[in-house]
Amino acid sequence: MNTDQRRCYILYMFKSFSRRGLFQAAPLGAAAAFLAPQHATAQEQPSAIPSLKFDIESQTHFKNEAGSANEATVAEFPISQSIAGVSMRLKPGAIRELHWHALAAEWAYMIEGRVRTTVVMPNGQSAIDEFGPGDTWYFPRGHGHLLQGLGPGEAHFLLGFDNGHFSEFGTFSITDWITNTPPEIASRVLNLPASVLAKFPKKEVYIGPGEVPKTILEEFRLSSSQTSQFAHKYRLDMQPPHVFEGGMEYIVQQKDFPIQTTFTAAKMILQPGALREMHWHPHADEWQYYLSGQARMTVFGSHGRIRTEEYKKGNVGFCPQGYGHYIEQMGDQPTELLILFNHPEFQEISLANWLGGNPSSLLSANFGIPQDAIDKLPKKERGIIRRS
Ligand SMILES: [Fe+2]
Ligand SMILES: [Fe+2]
Repeated sequence: MNTDQRRCYILYMFKSFSRRGLFQAAPLGAAAAFLAPQHATAQEQPSAIPSLKFDIESQTHFKNEAGSANEATVAEFPISQSIAGVSMRLKPGAIRELHWHALAAEWAYMIEGRVRTTVVMPNGQSAIDEFGPGDTWYFPRGHGHLLQGLGPGEAHFLLGFDNGHFSEFGTFSITDWITNTPPEIASRVLNLPASVLAKFPKKEVYIGPGEVPKTILEEFRLSSSQTSQFAHKYRLDMQPPHVFEGGMEYIVQQKDFPIQTTFTAAKMILQPGALREMHWHPHADEWQYYLSGQARMTVFGSHGRIRTEEYKKGNVGFCPQGYGHYIEQMGDQPTELLILFNHPEFQEISLANWLGGNPSSLLSANFGIPQDAIDKLPKKERGIIRRS
């Protein structure tokens, strides 16, 4: 990035934050500090890596009798410029009203309970789907949609958006639009008399109560006999996982789920004592949500900069594109996390593969260690290494 490009980028970030009125809230400082090391000269002291952790589940951003929503945008989690997240809960029958997102596509993973969705596409077609634990959805940017809790019990799901500046509380909702449209226009478009329009909500509903639908799709007795992929739905937990000696990973890329054009999604399970080995992702940021258990992630950001964070259930984590990292499992119970990469194709380079892809003599010269030590180095990735 040359000086002009850098200036433009910083100006863009300044405008982005200013638009949201966040300039006083310090994220610009954190973002600028994060940028600086990319351009630091040998004489400059690079800034530390900013926080890579946010406790989304301990927030109370929205809550009413029908549901709740907590979010992680650049306002709460400045390092994540590329991905925002929301933890949402809907009571049985509750409706997240008809809305669309101008700035971001929406991905979701069902953690508990069941949800029905409707979505309208630009070609005029609509779809209706139902989701249970382990299922994901993807609605492209701008596609209108609605969510409804099906019960029994509360539905809890994680939403991911492919823009860190996206806020769940700034969506384009149908009630917001209609109530702010002149009655004579709304009357002509909706074919309703003014007396009926007067009964519409006076402000955006966002999440409101509703009746549980009378008919709910019944699961097959043998759940694996149901197809894993629909137009907007992908059953992540029904996929055969990649199994490693210390855990496993379910992963879905665009090649598996064509509509998912801006994300790769994964669920990783680390067995007690496991180590997700040293690696980096060449073209994607990594955004995490910890479903259960505990872990410690350490990130390497050049210039000798290292940052370690500890995570537990309900925490969000982040590793910038290209930054080296590893994850140590903690505690007696397995650790489960959801991961979003902001690229439709998964790419990773493992340190072990890199070492395997070099002649011994070069490594010996680079590290200053003898051949017998070089012989002990790994040659191939192990993904998740088991307890030693
Ligand atoms: Fe949405
Ligand atoms: Fe990673």
